[in-house]
Amino acid sequence: MKWKAIVAATVLAGVAFGSVIAADGTHDSRIAMMKKIGGAAGALGAIAKGDKPYDAAIVKTSLTTIAETAKAFPDQFGPNSDKTDAEVNPKLWDNFDDFKAKAAKLSGDAETALAQLPADQAGVGAALKTLGADCGACHQAYRVKKD
Ligand code: HEC
Repeated sequence: MKWKAIVAATVLAGVAFGSVIAADGTHDSRIAMMKKIGGAAGALGAIAKGDKPYDAAIVKTSLTTIAETAKAFPDQFGPNSDKTDAEVNPKLWDNFDDFKAKAAKLSGDAETALAQLPADQAGVGAALKTLGADCGACHQAYRVKKD
């Protein structure tokens, strides 16, 4: 039962987090959401690479975080949000439907993986390959990386 409590707590934390920053639309709130997604992908990556042992609860929590955060991410780009964000490609505003579709693809792929919950290290690796392609597709199109 312990993992269920952990998942429930994480889901609740995610909801609370989302509601605090939902309509914010600033660079910081966008980055905060992406850091959440990045952290969850990192936890899956550690399992896929064998740095951490397979743990169904962590896999479930991470996929849930990615699915829910990706779903809420486009809300950060509403009409009154920051349109001068230097790390956001300005063409996002002209291709908002495509941007939303890319967020929905990530969230949908995470939900699909969640439904079939990867059962071992190789399964996590396969799921991460699909999700990683979704990250890359959107970043390539709409994220300006400042180094
Ligand atoms: C629908 C588009 C989209 C998808 C899908 C997406 N990202 Fe992002 N990501 C962005 C945008 C846009 C930014 C820049 C946000 C900003 O600067 O305001 C960003 C920024 C980031 C950052 C930078 C945070 C920082 O500290 O600067 C990380 C890390 C990140 N994304 C991880 C991921 C990972 C991991 C995935 C896949 C699991 C993913 N993203 C999927 C659009 C996306």
